[in-house]
Amino acid sequence: MATHKEPDHLDSRFYKPADVFFPAFNNVGLTYDDVTLATQYSEVLPRDTQLDTTLADGLRLNIPIISSDMDTVTEARMAIAMALNGGMGLIHHNMPERAQLSEVSRVKNNVHGLIQDPIKVTPDQVVGDVLQLIETRKFAFSTFPVVDEKGKLVGLLSSHVVKPRYAKRKIADALTPRSQVHTINKKELGRDPIARADKFFNDRPGIHKLLVVDDEDHLRGLFTMSDIERINQERNAQFKPARDAQFRLICGAAVSATRNAFGELDRERILTHAGGLVERGVDAIAVSTAHGHSKGVGDAVKMLRDAFPTLPIIAGNVTSAAGVEFLADAGANVIKVGQGPGSICTTRIVAGVGIPQLTALFLASRAAKKKRVTMLADGGITKSGDIVKALTLSDAVICGGLLAGCPEAPGEVIEISGKLYKQYRGMGSLAAMKAGSAARYGHTADPSRKVAPEGVEALKEASGSVDRVLAQLIGGIQSGMGYLGAANVAKLRDHARFIRVSPAGQREAAPHDVLEFKADYDR
Ligand code: XMP
Repeated sequence: MATHKEPDHLDSRFYKPADVFFPAFNNVGLTYDDVTLATQYSEVLPRDTQLDTTLADGLRLNIPIISSDMDTVTEARMAIAMALNGGMGLIHHNMPERAQLSEVSRVKNNVHGLIQDPIKVTPDQVVGDVLQLIETRKFAFSTFPVVDEKGKLVGLLSSHVVKPRYAKRKIADALTPRSQVHTINKKELGRDPIARADKFFNDRPGIHKLLVVDDEDHLRGLFTMSDIERINQERNAQFKPARDAQFRLICGAAVSATRNAFGELDRERILTHAGGLVERGVDAIAVSTAHGHSKGVGDAVKMLRDAFPTLPIIAGNVTSAAGVEFLADAGANVIKVGQGPGSICTTRIVAGVGIPQLTALFLASRAAKKKRVTMLADGGITKSGDIVKALTLSDAVICGGLLAGCPEAPGEVIEISGKLYKQYRGMGSLAAMKAGSAARYGHTADPSRKVAPEGVEALKEASGSVDRVLAQLIGGIQSGMGYLGAANVAKLRDHARFIRVSPAGQREAAPHDVLEFKADYDR
């Protein structure tokens, strides 16, 4: 077997670790394309690399990619797709609070092993009522447990009888009686309910539903064989869906540091909103603002930390070590870094403020390590190579533009001159602020007040599904890790050696001197 060779002196004088490289450029702001990573001796095959990342206690992702809390990027459909791929979606807050709670519920109620609160029917209803329920709520299933008014199991209404020809029949006369329904006591589920249910379905060919009851025969849950099969498939996948301890998909949601009419933090509204999210099972809340190193944001984080001592709190955005320390001291676990790098951002043009992303990430990362918090590189990611570079200094990345063209992003596909596009807008654009995001940029939504937008309204070419986009990105990250001999994200950080790239070097890095090429890297 080949042995690892320490880099000789000449290499190490050119290719430098972050702690040597960035301080040497302390008079210039650097971003992704300004640097490249040096190849390292490797015994690691890209396909064997692990991409999991732990952002906080109870918040572990299987790939280090998060979809941005923007109203043209993340609602339930995007969050489900992200979590199924091992990442996480942050559901935006440019909608009424109640609507955001439902979006979170949709993610948390997506397929998980034990359906804890299955849709039930009662014996006095008729089959026609059930058909209508299926039609209005767009259920993709048609078997329902039947319970009495106290929630006790009476039987099972099988899909074989949920047909228009039986519409007038009473459920009491159409159900499979309790004595013939397969059940298990909640106490018997043990430490691995999925394995228990899997064994049950194995032992009883032809049975597809298993109901869970308590000692008094109250219905406590439902397993379906297709869910269990899907979960077993996932267990063998390299990048498993990101799930919580109850096997539900992971989901984050943004809250805003809303102020009341007197300009003070609206404590009651923020706490009620966050409480609702926690009740729905949210895995992290993000206090997302343009200027996180500010009193209002610090106070909001402190208030949320006091109210929810164990909830992972993401807060930002900052671009300095002091900003990270400030939010960590307030109680945040995960700090968002980035001011102005985003593809739809104009903060640097409008306000003249913001730091090129790699320099910001370096400074933030040193403070994050000291404070034992994690960090997200937010904005400016345009290709998988940027993610590799970002992960040398942070724990995960947040993407907006890269995902905004996917069918899972909110909004319709627009056709212009035969090409398909989707709308993508900054949360600081006038249109988004009018729709509610003004607080994020420290403005009021009052249209009579002058506000300077800090983002643009744009279009993204419609792209393939989130699965396809993420597969490309993951492939690129794994490639980068293979070149650096890094089996996991922590090793990537250790092995990274940087060198500055000249404008000629940047030109050399992209396809050049060819007449035509197919840009597979951005498909
Ligand atoms: P990408 O580059 O992935 O960036 O499209 C997404 C990130 O950009 C931030 N964001 C904004 N920044 N004005 C800004 O200065 C805006 O209007 C705006 N909207 C979003 C945000 O951090 C997001 O994750």
